[in-house]
Amino acid sequence: MADKTLNDLFLHQLKDTYFAENAILKALPPMMDAATSTDLKSALGVHLEETREQVKRLEEVFGLVDAKPEGVECKAILGIIAEGQEVMEEFAGSEALDAGIIAAAQAVEHYEITRYGTLLAWAEQLELDEAADLLKETLIEEENTDDILSDLAESSVNEDADED
Ligand SMILES: [Fe+2]
Repeated sequence: MADKTLNDLFLHQLKDTYFAENAILKALPPMMDAATSTDLKSALGVHLEETREQVKRLEEVFGLVDAKPEGVECKAILGIIAEGQEVMEEFAGSEALDAGIIAAAQAVEHYEITRYGTLLAWAEQLELDEAADLLKETLIEEENTDDILSDLAESSVNEDADED
């Protein structure tokens, strides 16, 4: 145990994030289907495409550290996704559904932002410059998605949810 290094930690978190992204790839289409706002559907659709690229970027990072892409089960993302599913079931057919979907999607984004923030800092510390560039690209996409979802909630979806 004592000989574990920051390199090992980086690789472990890379696997965790790879598992999470793949879980998100499966979770996004049902959220898109359930959303009633066309703007929300399309925002989730754009992020689904981005997520496919993010998975590829992680595979590139694995290559840069001479590791094969593989995941380790990320219990956190499974829990966040399961809570989103609960909300979608509980609020199906209600005015408040889209607001709940945005909240669930933002919980996912915030989880990813913390993971990519850490991976980026560790890549910089380990002087993995190319990996850092790739991770930064994804981090910016996750932050943008979070901002887009906040704008959507605050400009229309929360108000629509408040109608009775
Ligand atoms: Fe992502």
